[in-house]
Parts: sequence; C-alpha cells; structure tokens
Amino acid sequence: MDSFEYRNGRLHCEEVLLSQVAERFGTPTYVYSRDAIERAYLAYSQALEGKKALVCYAVKANSNLAVLNILARLGAGFDIVSLGELERVLKAGAQPEKIVFSGVGKQPHEIVRALDVGIHCFNIESESELERVNQVAGECGKVADISFRVNPDVDAGTHPYISTGLKENKFGIAIAEADRIYTHAASLEHVHVVGMDCHIGSQLTEIAPFMDALDRLLALVDALAEKGIIIQHLDLGGGLGVCYTDETPPTPQAYIAAVLEKMADRDMGLIFEPGRSIVANAGVMLTRVEFLKCNEHKNFAIIDGAMNDLIRPSLYSAYQEIIPVEIREGETQPYDLVGPVCETGDFLGKDRQLNLQEGDLLAVCSAGAYGFVMSSNYNTRPRAAEVMIDDNAMHEIRARETLHDLMRGETLLPKGN
Ligand code: LLP
Repeated sequence: MDSFEYRNGRLHCEEVLLSQVAERFGTPTYVYSRDAIERAYLAYSQALEGKKALVCYAVKANSNLAVLNILARLGAGFDIVSLGELERVLKAGAQPEKIVFSGVGKQPHEIVRALDVGIHCFNIESESELERVNQVAGECGKVADISFRVNPDVDAGTHPYISTGLKENKFGIAIAEADRIYTHAASLEHVHVVGMDCHIGSQLTEIAPFMDALDRLLALVDALAEKGIIIQHLDLGGGLGVCYTDETPPTPQAYIAAVLEKMADRDMGLIFEPGRSIVANAGVMLTRVEFLKCNEHKNFAIIDGAMNDLIRPSLYSAYQEIIPVEIREGETQPYDLVGPVCETGDFLGKDRQLNLQEGDLLAVCSAGAYGFVMSSNYNTRPRAAEVMIDDNAMHEIRARETLHDLMRGETLLPKGN
C-alpha cells in the first residue's frame, strides 16, 4: 500500500489527501492510485522483458474503463470472461491480438464477436464448448485459435470458494482426459490448437502449487508433442496473492523467475493472467462513520459502506485492513464495522482496535480488486463512485449511481390490470 501513506497523521493517496476526496465525491467511494497500478503491472512485464510472453490482466478484478486504459497504454493484454468484458477492453484501447477469452460458458454471440475482432486465443473449458467454438467458427468461415484449460488437480491452499484447480471444481478439463480431448480437437477443421492453460486458484501465497501445476502441464505438453500436437504457449492463469494483513506472498519477480527457470530449455510462449496482484493494493474504499452504538457486549461503528459495496468480508470472511483517514491520539476500543444493510452478515471488519467518533472517515484497504466489481444494489443502494488519483489530480472515473439509474428499465403494470 505504499501509494497510500500517512503524512502528519493524515492519509494520502499519492499527493492527494483522502479527506479531500471524500469531501468532493462523498462516501462510500473507491479510490485508486494510477502509480500503484502501473508499478504492479510493470513488475510482471519487466520480469518478462525479451521473452515471448503476454501479461493479460484479468479484467474481472477491476473492470473500470480508466483502469483498463492505463494498462492498455502500457501494452497489457487482457483476460476476459464475457462479451461485456470484451467490449470494455476494446473501448479502453486493448489490442485484440493480446486478448484471451476464459470462462466456462461462452455463448455463440460472444464467440462470434471475439472471432470478428481477432482475439489471441479461446481458453476452452469443456468438450461441449470445444464443439461450440468449432461450429461457430465454421459458420463464420474462420479458424479459432484455442487452448484447453487443464485442471491439474493441485491444491492451491487457498479459500475453498476461490480454489479452482482441484478435480471437484467446475473449471477446465480433467488432466486425465486431456490427451484424448486434445487429440480430438486436432482433428477438427475450425479450431487450431495453440495453447494450454490453467488457473488453480486465487490469493496463493506460495510458489509451490504453481510449480506443481506447471510440472503436470509440461508432462502433458511432452506427451502431446510425441503425437505431433505442438503446444505453442502455456498460460498459467492468475492467482498470485497480495498482502491483506500479514501474508508474505512471493513477488511477481520471484514467481516469474521460478517459471522461467523451469521453461529455460523450451521454446514456448508464456501467458500470465494476474488480476488481484495488479489492483488489490492500488485501491481503498473510503467510508464514513454514521453512528457509534455501544452495548455491554459490543461496540458497533455503523458506517455508510456496506456488504453491497464490498462483499469480500461477508462472502469469504476475507480480512481487509481498516484504518482512519486522520489519526486521532488516544485510547482505542474494539469495534465491529457494520453497514446499513439489513443482514447480520453485513460487516466490513470485526473487533478492530480504533479510536472513533461519529463522522470519522475510514479507509478499507486492499479494495482495488474484487471490490467495486462485485458490488450490488441490494437494499436499493446506489453503487459507489470511483476516483483515480494521478499524482496531485483526482479524476472521477465512475460517477456514483443515482436512484434514477437504479430504477431504469423497471415499469409498473398498466393501470387497471
Ligand atoms: N484467470 C482466470 C481464469 C481466473 O478465473 C481468475 C480469477 C484470474 C485469472 C485472476 O486471478 P487473480 O490473479 O485475481 O487471483 N472474487 C474472489 C476472487 C475470484 C477469482 C476468480 N478467478 C475474491 O474476491 O477473492
């Protein structure tokens, strides 16, 4: 979080006081640092300099157009999972030949559009999807470049909801079936096998599971080569963890160095699909304390941000640091930070030692990934504003929703019915 720091007890993002952001745009508001995003991306791209490699940012982590545009300007590729994400990255200036299309349920119209713009590769997740891509490509008179997401059955050692590489998960094709499916794909007319991909989970804090997966994939690559099926690139997905509290995940440099070492004597392209590690610590969510409510068991701080704005604590019991925007000297107390949504699970943090008064501003840290993008309108709450800080400038990159936005498209039944 080094783009966010205290100076004289007041929290800044780059050269901007976060209290000024709250004053200008209200709360809750997501605030991102351009510098932090750029540095996180460059850690990947510079470690891969001179290699046949693509860094395809996983759009799902934070899909704001301004975020995508910052990355596109640096030459990033993108990992998308829907037509919506495809249109976003195109609007943000992505180069189509640097886009990979992941996800288990690609629809025909999504495949058509991706073929039209000429994406790099479809990451296919099942035999039925293979048939669909082959058929749609045929109807378009095209040949689709494809990769299979192979499920290597390794335990990423992460939260069960975000662990994806075990055989009980819905993702990818089983490694035991891969040989047969690749062989079949090689016989089809409208697909061209170019790659192999995997994504074993998210928020991994060790290199070992990535290396296990890589070993298993390379064994499969070699077995296929013997049959004349040549895999040109390996896509290792995303998954590198970040520090939310006291985790010590490997740096992108260390992770990539380990991968490059294993790949040293192979002439293969590499793709990475980082999401969280690019944006998580480049963002905070600003929220204000509405009320303090204390009883003999508990102190509650009722804040204006809620589970609809940031669902990770409620959904995954995820821990996100919560810090004051202005430090107040004096004694702290344990507080549960809860939102106004009518659910017991509506909390952003529990038992946090803080010295609070009503009206205080707080920053929920590491909120740049899977924050705004997972927000909802539950309880008819407009979604938050998003602001990008660039040195001493603040840019509103998404206006707070209005109640009009929320009711758009809804209609009453005709009178008399
Ligand atoms: N590639 C694929 C195919 C993925 O499924 C994902 C994330 C990524 C790349 C990016 O992974 P990352 O580098 O961000 O770990 N909402 C959850 C995380 C879900 C991740 C889903 N897939 C959370 O808030 O923790």
